[in-house]
Amino acid sequence: MQLPVTARPDFHITRASHVVLQVADLDASREFYTQVLGLVVTAQEDDVLYLRGIEEACHHSLVLRKAPAPSCARIGLRMFSEDDLEASLAFFSAHGCEAKWVDVAHQGKTLHVTDPVGVPLEFCARMPVEPRMITRFAEHRGGRAQRIDHYQIVTPHVPKALEAYTAMGFGLSEYIATARDELRGVFLQRKGNPHDIVFFHGPGPRLHHFAYFTPEGQDLLRACDVAGALGFGRGVERGPGRHGPGHAMFVYFRDPDGHRVELFNTHYQVMDIENEPVRWDPADTNVSFPWGLPAQRRWFEETTAFEGVETTMSDPPPAPLTLERYLAELP
Ligand SMILES: [Fe+2]
Repeated sequence: MQLPVTARPDFHITRASHVVLQVADLDASREFYTQVLGLVVTAQEDDVLYLRGIEEACHHSLVLRKAPAPSCARIGLRMFSEDDLEASLAFFSAHGCEAKWVDVAHQGKTLHVTDPVGVPLEFCARMPVEPRMITRFAEHRGGRAQRIDHYQIVTPHVPKALEAYTAMGFGLSEYIATARDELRGVFLQRKGNPHDIVFFHGPGPRLHHFAYFTPEGQDLLRACDVAGALGFGRGVERGPGRHGPGHAMFVYFRDPDGHRVELFNTHYQVMDIENEPVRWDPADTNVSFPWGLPAQRRWFEETTAFEGVETTMSDPPPAPLTLERYLAELP
């Protein structure tokens, strides 16, 4: 099948950077993200909490704002320099993407952009530098989440998203396509591992999850144990298990507001020009769960709305093999 070629635009996006979520109870969210995931609090100012992973020297990779209804305000991406932000304006204008400069606390020049499938993005190039906590072992908690890695978005327009992000310079590492060449999922990267942003087919745009890297499989188990001990055990939604695409071990949690966050280990490098994207068949259930049990139905169907962004319904994808169906069909 014909896939778009990665372009080399005159601006340089470097990586997934941060996510901004609306939450109902900052204290409950603070306990969950610091004790279960193991994030570090950089600052709490009025009704906003800024967190970062233990290896991150940036001011924040997760921003939690107190609000009456849970939603995702924006997902953040870094550019290499503020000159890149300026250079990207012509690109976004040419692609019909609304873009405007905004002032955001603890960030340098910041550009808000609505991408071609309606996802609210926030680009910046600078944040205040904070101490890396990676060798302060006595202060590590829960899953010892080290750094933010990627987002997964649900959209009815996966081919359009692929076109737009390859034009922005993202490489396609892996993709899921039916025998009739219908794209069901695309894994796109800028930082040289399998993904910074992933798009899957479904009603959207909506946030399926955001993900933090942690090095050891044991960290996943410890995060689950701490979740259980602190009363967050029912929020362990899927896993620990092993991904087909990406090959990582993973566990998915639902936070106190229902936002889904993944903790995962291991990744491979993919950055050389001769690396062809890997194709997966959604009918092959060894892809979605090489071993163990498939995900609960809610993992496929429940997502977080972007603040103020309407959800467009999609034609139904082929019914996934859910845990419920798997158990019902056992002999
Ligand atoms: Fe993920």
